[in-house]
Amino acid sequence: MQRIFTRRKLLIILALVINVLQTTLCDISVSTNDLAIQLDKNDSFILYVRNHTSLPSLIVFDVQHTDIVRVSSSSINITNPNENYNITVEAIGAGHSEIVVNDTSSETNLKNAYVRVTVNKIPELDTFSLVIGWIYFVAWSISFYPQIYINFKRRSVVGLNFDFLALNLVGFTLYGIFNLGLYFIPEIKDEYSERYPRGLNPVQVNDIVFAVHAAAATIITIVQCFFYERSDQRISITARVILGLFGLFLFISIILAGTDVIHWLDFLYYCSYVKLTITLIKYIPQAYMNYKRKSTVGWSIGNIFLDFTGGILSMLQMIVNSYNYDDWVSIFGDPTKFGLGLFSVVFDIFFIIQHYVLYRHTSYDEQS
Ligand SMILES: *[C@@H]1O[C@H](CO)[C@@H](O)[C@H](O)[C@H]1NC(C)=O
Ligand SMILES: *[C@@H]1O[C@H](CO)[C@@H](O)[C@H](O)[C@H]1NC(C)=O
Ligand SMILES: *[C@@H]1O[C@H](CO)[C@@H](O)[C@H](O)[C@H]1NC(C)=O
Ligand SMILES: *[C@@H]1O[C@H](CO)[C@@H](O)[C@H](O)[C@H]1NC(C)=O
Ligand SMILES: *[C@@H]1O[C@H](CO)[C@@H](O)[C@H](O)[C@H]1NC(C)=O
Repeated sequence: MQRIFTRRKLLIILALVINVLQTTLCDISVSTNDLAIQLDKNDSFILYVRNHTSLPSLIVFDVQHTDIVRVSSSSINITNPNENYNITVEAIGAGHSEIVVNDTSSETNLKNAYVRVTVNKIPELDTFSLVIGWIYFVAWSISFYPQIYINFKRRSVVGLNFDFLALNLVGFTLYGIFNLGLYFIPEIKDEYSERYPRGLNPVQVNDIVFAVHAAAATIITIVQCFFYERSDQRISITARVILGLFGLFLFISIILAGTDVIHWLDFLYYCSYVKLTITLIKYIPQAYMNYKRKSTVGWSIGNIFLDFTGGILSMLQMIVNSYNYDDWVSIFGDPTKFGLGLFSVVFDIFFIIQHYVLYRHTSYDEQS
């Protein structure tokens, strides 16, 4: 007797069956995953039901914050395999809330069945916040050039602290690694969306541009240090020890990530923590050096004014967003970002006092 089903034929049939099962899978999705609504207004999305097999079935809308949004009907009784439903969303409080679609029949594909709703008090404030964001991006990006220009004009880097440069280079390189990894590496993006299924990627293109440009501008400044007069300035032992500890910490993290003890996403987070620490301490050596020299000659005050502008605007943006989305927790509950902005601004004010008040006689000789 001849065998009808050879191994090969069986495999092909199996593949076809799997294929058919996949294409006829019940699928529920929505017309948009993001809705921005003004407070006390309504908006809508379309719910698409496709190839629903276990009928009738009850679809339930899970609203994360019922004090922010209300859905026109809290559930739908599905009776047709293919149907579109127009769902009204009422914005009853400012803030962010997710609406997750749940289906009582378990074999439905619900991966795309969610809506992230943001309810703002004043839509124009969103535009205002966006514009502020671009202005501080520009201010921070060009803040590197006054220092480069001063070095070039004086043919000297005397008065510019090398610890500051070394910390800045390491900080922006790590920040660049964090941004590039989270934006471009598929395995890391997958891990991120697995941990935060409906979260937005926190990295945007301008973050990448900022970090890469900042690292490049710092490298240019460091190259200047090799060619221009630098007296006996060097990177201090303290800074070397601190950078060495950061290096050791990241080296251990790389080994742990390489051996699958932690995920590479964790490694990127560790990079960003080191970068935050660097932002906290990087101005200290320069401030101390100005104090020892009783002078700010060689240290660009233009850089400080631009940094100050950027810091103030970034805090203003956080305040505007908090007002517009009634979300003061993200400022006061998670102090990292606001605290860092505030810290930089306080340091900038200190430098401005050093330049224009404390050491103004020595400062005006060569500069301004
Ligand atoms: C629904 O089933 C049809 C026929 O099997 C298929 O062509 C179509 O791609 C399926 N649609 C979805 C969204 O799965
Ligand atoms: C849903 O219906 C309302 C009123 O009939 C309409 O204004 C709205 O545009 C519809 N929504 C979508 C996403 O088509
Ligand atoms: C929003 O929709 C609800 C019902 O879903 C309705 O009672 C209310 O009047 C609508 N509000 C506006 C501003 O259209
Ligand atoms: C859904 O509709 C079907 C048919 O109209 C009905 O038999 C069933 O009881 C309904 N289910 C619910 C939960 O309302
Ligand atoms: C969806 O509904 C089922 C049964 O009602 C429940 O067990 C499950 O936790 C719900 N899932 C979500 C994400 O709410």
